[in-house]
This record gives sequence, structure tokens and C-alpha cells, in this order.
Amino acid sequence: MDILITGGAGYIGSHTAIELLNNKRNIIIVDNFSNSKKEVLEKIKEITKKDFKFYEVDYKNEKALDKIFEENNIEAVMNFAGYKAVGESTQKPLEYYENNITGAITLLKVMKKHNVKKFIFSSSATVYGNPEKVPITEESKTGETTNPYGTTKLYIEQILKDLYKSDNTWDIAILRYFNPVGSHESGLIGEEPNGIPNNLMPYIVRVASKSLKELSIFGNDYDTKDGTGVRDYIHVVDLAKGHIKALEKLEKENQGLYIYNLGTGKGYSVLDMVKAFEKATGQKVPYKIVDRRPGDIAICYSDPSKAQKELNWKAEKTLIDMCKDSWKYITRS
Ligand code: UD1
Repeated sequence: MDILITGGAGYIGSHTAIELLNNKRNIIIVDNFSNSKKEVLEKIKEITKKDFKFYEVDYKNEKALDKIFEENNIEAVMNFAGYKAVGESTQKPLEYYENNITGAITLLKVMKKHNVKKFIFSSSATVYGNPEKVPITEESKTGETTNPYGTTKLYIEQILKDLYKSDNTWDIAILRYFNPVGSHESGLIGEEPNGIPNNLMPYIVRVASKSLKELSIFGNDYDTKDGTGVRDYIHVVDLAKGHIKALEKLEKENQGLYIYNLGTGKGYSVLDMVKAFEKATGQKVPYKIVDRRPGDIAICYSDPSKAQKELNWKAEKTLIDMCKDSWKYITRS
């Protein structure tokens, strides 16, 4: 049986592909390289010494997807495809709603047609908006997302809940990622944002490698221990392993809709990140304090105990691992 991975050449999809292959699973990757590179597929093969099928297909292309389901014996789908740049989503809301939501619906329709009903969805802590309290549990209130990207995640979650309500033979896992960072320990694959990065870790890495002059820290007057924003950074390999555990859960339970936070449960400030990065790599990260970034929240970190209890999954890598591996990828590539 095959596991279909849409967006499998992307940052989280490629790391999950490796974990699936290491777990002796057959995988099929679908990607249209809208925000990823062909070379990643070769790197996955190099790291795992395993082969897999690949289709260069846009996941909104129903006909092409239908053919893939005809040709293969697909058991489950992991959907990593989708646009993910928060700032860009505020400039191009229609493109974001169309790509992320139409893509998910198309995929689900084709799955239904072929009676494939195990689905794992990449959601985000962004669905919690500005949390009323931390740590955030899966029962915390969702909604009031601050950008169209976040709203696409929220809407797709709702679509999945409605789908499950209409037919409880579906088997769905919604995984809410906190802040994924780091890269595979080989340094062969990692995060490659287009243009100037928006997220903290890719920005720090570029400052350390001197391709950007200094980090701008967006505000030091938040109600946090040192005034800078606090987040739950999680190593992408730990995150990838969470998907294997979620798949095993769906295979074991056979029918249900499950929601899990995937985070470490620890909050680190921007200054903690700068210090940890300098310690882990020996590189300097010059910074200046600037105004707050609109839409940012002060504190966001998870309560990951549900995933630990029900999936037997726990993030294991440290902040130092996250920094070292992010740096390794940049210095190798
Ligand atoms: C953002 C998105 C979230 C998305 C996540 C992906 C918003 C509101 N949220 O989260 O939807 O899922 O990215 O990882 O945009 N920072 C700086 N300087 C920088 C960059 C960031 O000080 O140059 C600070 C931010 O103010 C924040 C922290 O670093 O306190 C983390 O920022 P970032 O990596 O962009 O992630 P989030 O804002 O948490």
C-alpha cells in the first residue's frame, strides 16, 4: 500500500517523506515545484537509499490526481501542498484561498471517489489566533486568524470536520504545527524561502552567513520575560516523526477525527533564539530592536500532552540541535 504525499518536495513534506521511507513505507510524491526544487527528490533518495514514484502535478488538477489514484494502491494521503507565506497571503488572498482550499477539496473528492479515507492535514497553531492563555491545548478557542494564510488552515479544518460528520468512515488527523525550524541532520535538505525570509530562523541563518546585515527584532516591549516574542520552536524531524505516529493511529483506530498540537511545550523568546544560535554555531548574530510587526502576538506555545498520550510521540531534539541543523543546511548548500 502507498502513502501519497502532496507537496512532498517542500520543507515539511520532504522531511516526512524521509521518515516514511525509513519506516519501510512506500510513498508517492506529488509536487508542482511552485515553492520547491526538483533536486530535493534526489536528496531524499540519497539520504534514504530508497526509491519512490513521483508525479509533477498540481494538486488542483482533478483529472491528473484521478489517474494517480487509478494507477496506484493508495492507502492514505498526507497533504503538505499549499501556499504558506503569511505576508504574501495578505497581498494575494484570492490566490491563497483558491490554491489551499480548492486543492484540499479536489484531493478529498478524488480520495472519496476511490474510497481512500485516511487523511493527514498540515494545520498550524495560527488557527488559535491570539491565544487567551498558554499553554495552548487542542480545546483552546480557534478563530480570529490574522491573515488569509491562517484562515485557509481554519477553513480546511472546518471542511474536514463537516466531511467527517457526513460520513464517519473517514479517518482524519489534523496536526497543528507550532514553529518548525531546523533541517535533516545530513544538511542535504532544509528550508529554502524565496527572497528575504519572513520567519525568524531563516532570517537568523542569513545574518550569520552575512548575506543579510542584521536581524531586526520586532519589539522588546511585550509582556514576556525579556520583552521579545515567545514561540514554541520545534525541530522539523521531530515534526515529521509526528506524522508517522498519526498515520499509525489512523491505521489502528480505523475511523475518527483527531486533532493534535505538535510542539515541544517550551516557549523561547527571540533573544533566547539569538543566544542559542550563537552558542550552537559560534557565529555572531548582530541585531537591532525595531517596532512590533503588525499581526504578531506576544506568546504562543503548546501543551503537547495529548499527542504524547495518544500517539506516543514527543519532540526530542533540543534548541541547540535546531540551530546547529539550520546552520548545517546553509553551510552545505
Ligand atoms: C508565523 C505566522 C504563522 C506561521 C508561522 C510559520 C504570523 C502572524 N504568523 O508565525 O501563521 O504558521 O510563521 O512558521 O505571521 N521575529 C523577529 N524578527 C524577524 C522575524 C521574526 O523579531 O525578522 C520574531 C517575531 O516577532 C516572533 C518570532 O520572531 O516573535 C517568530 O516569528 P516567525 O518566525 O515569523 O513566526 P510566527 O510569527 O510565530
